[in-house]
Amino acid sequence: MGQIRQMLDRQQGRVSFHMPGHKGGYPFGGAFDVTELPGTDDLHEPAGPYLHLQQKAAHLCGAACSFLLVGGSTLGVEAMLLSVLKPGEAVILPRNAHVSAWSACVLGGFRPLSVYPRYEADGPEGYAEEDFMRALEEHPEARALLVTRPDMYGRCLPLDRIARRCREKKVRLLVDEAHGAHLPFLKGMDGAPASAGALGADMWCQSLHKTLPALTQTALLHLRDEALFPRAKAALRLLETSSPSSLLLLSAESALEEMEARGAERLALLRARIDAFAEALDLRFARCIFPGMDPLRLTIDVRNAGLSGYEASARLAEKGVDMEMADEKRIVGIPSIENGEEDFRRLAEALESLPGGSAPKETERIQAYGEPCMDLREAFFSEKKWVPLKGAAGQICGAAFGLYPPGTPLAAPGERITKELAARMQRAMEQGCGAFGTNGKGEVSCVIPR
Ligand SMILES: Cc1ncc(COP(=O)(O)O)c(C=O)c1O
Repeated sequence: MGQIRQMLDRQQGRVSFHMPGHKGGYPFGGAFDVTELPGTDDLHEPAGPYLHLQQKAAHLCGAACSFLLVGGSTLGVEAMLLSVLKPGEAVILPRNAHVSAWSACVLGGFRPLSVYPRYEADGPEGYAEEDFMRALEEHPEARALLVTRPDMYGRCLPLDRIARRCREKKVRLLVDEAHGAHLPFLKGMDGAPASAGALGADMWCQSLHKTLPALTQTALLHLRDEALFPRAKAALRLLETSSPSSLLLLSAESALEEMEARGAERLALLRARIDAFAEALDLRFARCIFPGMDPLRLTIDVRNAGLSGYEASARLAEKGVDMEMADEKRIVGIPSIENGEEDFRRLAEALESLPGGSAPKETERIQAYGEPCMDLREAFFSEKKWVPLKGAAGQICGAAFGLYPPGTPLAAPGERITKELAARMQRAMEQGCGAFGTNGKGEVSCVIPR
């Protein structure tokens, strides 16, 4: 039994005039949701079971030291940028980085230098190694480079050369590995990509809750070098709740213990399940395989249903099968070791129930991001108004908005909203995709010109 579990067991039967207000009576795990007490550990100053689990996480993931997070990779990405940059410094960002990277730029006053994705023949927008190598040459002023790896489709960019060049140029390499908490446990699996820690990243973060059996919000932040520890700790103090839930931390412990004990074996079984599922896939559909891909990501091209991915995903949801993400052509699932045969059977059945048809008109290759025209921070802190998305072309974005998932801002603060961007977002929302940054009435936040 893990140390956190033992610590929490020792707290049972006490009388609490302390937080939390549910006093252990909350029916869904409340007994394990205790706060900082004389007999428990404190995540911000860990000295007992939390420290032990952080050390275990560092050992398992190849880090010099690690932090347990209860604010997801959102917190991890923000903390990474705040750990290595000073106000006014520049960071090279994939333009489709998660919104947390843009939030960190607002918080810290960092200057984002966007690398725009490519649109290749039959893949979703993405990047090649050269894109970041070139950005490093073009921007000698950059102090950090963020890479999202794996991306939503499981694509893992080769990192070795990028990491070497970053070291030569004294640029910190940060990796958003939100979708790759399982990568350290794929070691030895044929064709499986390595985790960023083995490839020279300075800092990387992983959402435990995305691909491992852990509660939502649990994540890890890893450091290659202990020298970064004080800044990372200060950044977490700045951003993270002062009352982290021990229930969440218990679930992180249970997930890491399971992965340590049986991870490799259970991931191999999962891979076999996914491969068998893909082989038996209805002939109208195709599993998408990309170079350097995480073998445990499941992306399916659904165009032959005559539907966009958003529409197909909405129909699967009506059948009780929820996918993680969709785009104009595909649906994306995040299978985990907790998905059994029955889940794959229900997914196959739901897919079979989709209609047949000819592929909808292709529009995804239109470059649909805002155009930078104002300082990001100035835009965020300026007076703003809500503007209907339909009429927002030409306005300057005041607060990031986009589709959710994947949580990439189509417009970041300080970018001019284009007609294409507004149309892409509108279309996806009409087809059932979620959004962030709107006010629920289809309006987005725009800067009021002075
Ligand atoms: C690439 C990427 N980075 C970061 C995040 C944030 O992760 P979390 O949900 O753990 O806060 C997400 C979430 O969807 C993501 O897709």
